Amino acid sequence: MPDLSKPAVTVLGAGDMGSALVRALLAAGYPTTVWNRTPERAKPLVAEGATQATTVAEAVEASRLVIVCLLDYKSVTEVLDTARDALAGQVLVNLTNGTQGQARELAGRYDVDYLDGGIMAVPPMIASPAAFVFYSGSRSAYDTNKPVLEVFGESIYVGTDPGFAALHDIGLLSGMYGMFVGGLHALALVTSAGIPATKFAPLLKRYVSSMTGYVDRMAEQIDKQDYAIDVTSNIAMQSAGYVNLTLSAEEQGISPELLAPLGPLMAQRVADGHGHEDLGGVVELLKKGNKK
Ligand SMILES: NC(=O)c1ccc[n+]([C@@H]2O[C@H](COP(=O)([O-])OP(=O)(O)OC[C@H]3O[C@@H](n4cnc5c(N)ncnc54)[C@H](OP(=O)(O)O)[C@@H]3O)[C@@H](O)[C@H]2O)c1
Repeated sequence: MPDLSKPAVTVLGAGDMGSALVRALLAAGYPTTVWNRTPERAKPLVAEGATQATTVAEAVEASRLVIVCLLDYKSVTEVLDTARDALAGQVLVNLTNGTQGQARELAGRYDVDYLDGGIMAVPPMIASPAAFVFYSGSRSAYDTNKPVLEVFGESIYVGTDPGFAALHDIGLLSGMYGMFVGGLHALALVTSAGIPATKFAPLLKRYVSSMTGYVDRMAEQIDKQDYAIDVTSNIAMQSAGYVNLTLSAEEQGISPELLAPLGPLMAQRVADGHGHEDLGGVVELLKKGNKK
């Protein structure tokens, strides 16, 4: 049963993530209205206590706090454009994955108090201690609605710029995919030689976990723009060794394409006279964008 002393909340989107958000709100006692393009997908949530709206406008009018969690920004604007009048004066929390530019554009598109969010969890993690969510945009919207937002997991407010939650989100996803890039290559390499992936996986986890400590030194070097601080593995040595990753892949007959892009960047730093410095200096080349 919803706790009627708690503020009503609307969730637009009953996909895997939207449904997890609705379930977390219901479990915490919030009267929750849900809308989904395909109405059947929201039916299980109604059975669990949610109220289903038949139109977007009806859903938006049901609660001051409107959370939207759809596939992408195109779907978000398609949906919200149908309820512009109903949105006026509401608090809009957008938990749809997108870029910083998309978030900034959306923040000014409607007459709302806008908060953007980046969910750092998969649906089963929602409302567990492992989940956290970045928020940025309206500070007052965040402060007022923090108790509701904390239902999903720890909330981390990263600034008034509505694009900053997306930047943090994409930053962490970049780190995650970088890890998977290395992991996929490593698993292709060893399994091509008949070593079972399950035998190798514990070693992969152990080594990659031990290397995460290196991120702190890299961060210090980047902030100080001094890549000679506490160098233990200079980039000239690393660049010479990196060549062997490609050679080893070729010997095994697997594609080096996932790992290949880093090699020329390391070699460029060495050629530019930074061979005694650390790997972190590669960010200087990345920041030049296409001007390298
Ligand atoms: N699942 C995860 O692990 C995870 C983790 C973090 C963040 N996210 C983010 O959460 C958001 C939702 O992900 P999800 O896992 O819920 O995806 P999903 O299960 O594929 O659900 C997609 C949702 O978007 C709706 N949708 C798609 N196109 C639409 C359109 N043109 N108009 C109206 N509605 C449309 C779908 O409605 P229908 O049911 O009608 O198709 C559904 O509600 C994404 O931005 C995703 O990146 C997901």
